[in-house]
Amino acid sequence: MDIFRFSKLLIFTSFVLTSFHVLPSLSFISFVFGDSLVDAGNNDYLFTLSKANLPPYGIDFKPSGGQPTGRFTNGRTIPDIIGQTLGAVSFPPPYLAPNTQPDAIHGGINYASGASGILDKTGSLFIGRIPLSNQVNYFEQSRNYMVNVMGEKRTKAFLKKAIFSLTTGSNDMLNYVQPSIPFLGGDKVFPSTFQDYMVFNLTTQLKRLHELGARKFVVVGIAPLGCIPFVRALNLLPRGKCSVEVNTLIQGYNQRLNSTLDQLNRQLGPESVFVYANSYDVFSRIILSYRHYGFENADEPCCGGNFPPFICFKGNNNASTATSVLCDDRSKYVFWDAYHPTEAVNIIISKMLLDGDESISFPMNIRELYNYNNS
Ligand SMILES: *[C@@H]1O[C@H](CO)[C@@H](O)[C@H](O)[C@H]1NC(C)=O
Ligand SMILES: *[C@@H]1O[C@H](CO)[C@@H](O)[C@H](O)[C@H]1NC(C)=O
Ligand SMILES: *[C@@H]1O[C@H](CO)[C@@H](O)[C@H](O)[C@H]1NC(C)=O
Repeated sequence: MDIFRFSKLLIFTSFVLTSFHVLPSLSFISFVFGDSLVDAGNNDYLFTLSKANLPPYGIDFKPSGGQPTGRFTNGRTIPDIIGQTLGAVSFPPPYLAPNTQPDAIHGGINYASGASGILDKTGSLFIGRIPLSNQVNYFEQSRNYMVNVMGEKRTKAFLKKAIFSLTTGSNDMLNYVQPSIPFLGGDKVFPSTFQDYMVFNLTTQLKRLHELGARKFVVVGIAPLGCIPFVRALNLLPRGKCSVEVNTLIQGYNQRLNSTLDQLNRQLGPESVFVYANSYDVFSRIILSYRHYGFENADEPCCGGNFPPFICFKGNNNASTATSVLCDDRSKYVFWDAYHPTEAVNIIISKMLLDGDESISFPMNIRELYNYNNS
């Protein structure tokens, strides 16, 4: 049986076996790893303080009719938007949701978890979360399932085409810069040591994924967290100002990450490609020229108010209560809550990562990665 007929058989069996995620998308397959920027609902299944399972989260997410899905924004995340643009007809479901195993041979699976980081300890204040190394363990489970269904050879061919995206590191940084959080069991290490430590541990996970068959990677750098409402409030910064200290720390990490990915491309290319997604510059541009991009507010969160504890939720299903914590026009705000961008920003970033030049996605953009022939 050739792979095409086999795929059709898979589509057919999947239709029979699953009820909700029944939209086959053999063209675009993605496995999503990371933190709350890309969590599609895994934390809903954990005992954790980091959840987005209450309104008004998801208010603009059309497939759920505006109900929360566990995404930490008002609408779609960047992987959602990029997937749709490249022809995916369903969003990779959260791994922890019931009965998601068959989706591994469909459009892929989402392993991301809010509050998690590259380092296992990151986010422990929030209790439940899936650190990156455990996300990769879960992928290993999915792979075992795939091998059972398709065999080793077809699994390899399938994974070769899939996009593996990793959006992580923000929480490691936030934990590091918050003085109240005891980190790494003692005194803080030097910033450069910390940056190396993060890149080293992330590289370990990239290599594991490579061993498991991943070939097309998108590794997202850390955005200028010094400009998010949470960090600005923590440092008592006035309107329009960002924490230079935090942003400098992040730039150092991003540079190390970019050059490590360059090395991986030399070692493991051309069959494997590691794309560095420069979210730092993309997001900085949006904040600096927010009016140019159609926004009116780049300082305050749309939801949850402008000072700690920044709680964005709606107590009951009362629309007039909701308007008291929500901005009037969500499309005019850069920040959805104190940490996360609005869907409007996600749409702009997705477009840049998909079609941007080498200063944005190196060594190729995501559309080129998707079309890249590595067989
Ligand atoms: C990160 O790497 C260090 C070695 O530098 C190792 O001891 C540690 O277990 C790793 N931590 C993780 C995966 O969080
Ligand atoms: C990333 O590394 C490549 C290769 O060294 C370099 O050409 C590119 O300018 C770097 N990008 C950024 C944003 O630093
Ligand atoms: C909704 O909130 C408004 C204003 O607080 C109140 O007057 C109204 O009775 C509430 N409605 C419901 C159904 O709770």
